[in-house]
Amino acid sequence: MIDKAKVFAKEIFAGDGSGHDFDHTMRVYRMAMGIAAEEGADAEVVGLAALLHDVDDHKLSPDTCKDKNRAAEFLRRNNVDEDRVQKILQIISEISFSSAKGKPTTIEGMCVQDADRLDAMGAIGIGRAFAFGGSRGRRMHDPECADQTTTIQHFYDKLLRLKDLMNTKTGRELAVGRDLYMRQFLDEFYAEWDGHR
Ligand code: ADP
Ligand code: NI
Repeated sequence: MIDKAKVFAKEIFAGDGSGHDFDHTMRVYRMAMGIAAEEGADAEVVGLAALLHDVDDHKLSPDTCKDKNRAAEFLRRNNVDEDRVQKILQIISEISFSSAKGKPTTIEGMCVQDADRLDAMGAIGIGRAFAFGGSRGRRMHDPECADQTTTIQHFYDKLLRLKDLMNTKTGRELAVGRDLYMRQFLDEFYAEWDGHR
């Protein structure tokens, strides 16, 4: 099932450059499996939810987003038990940033959400943020803070808040290192911006 889900996700993301790409999906999958092992969560549910978590994303697939149709059809087509299908679809609904109203209700969902959030942090998160800003033609930084759409502003709006939103002990430990790395990056960025280094 996991191998089939990898092939399915790869097909869905082929040619998409928005940041919701297959590389992101595979990083979230690997991270979620590592967290799941530490936390004693159901590895197959975590793996499938991680691999399918963005296939019905609202930016990528607005029509299927609400009911997670692509993920649902994939799982049912492959005869996954209906109670597991429901559990996986619930995880996918619960973890999206926009619809996140509190914690996921299962340990499996917590593992996947932590992995997804960790991928927005650290060196990878910095790279993704600037790639996103570049794709929108945005400024990196505005020292006057008049332009609220800069990539540096995104660190304060979201990325530096993620550490305190981790669900699991394992996720929290990993987030501490990634958060520190982003803060060191910002120090260096401002010093270079001002010509001090
Ligand atoms: P997710 O895929 O986890 O739902 P998003 O779709 O919000 O997250 O964002 C995908 C990536 O783009 C993340 O790494 C996020 O930090 C980055 N990103 C989102 N909005 C912005 C922004 N306004 N400026 C810079 N980066 C952004
Ligand atoms: Ni994601």
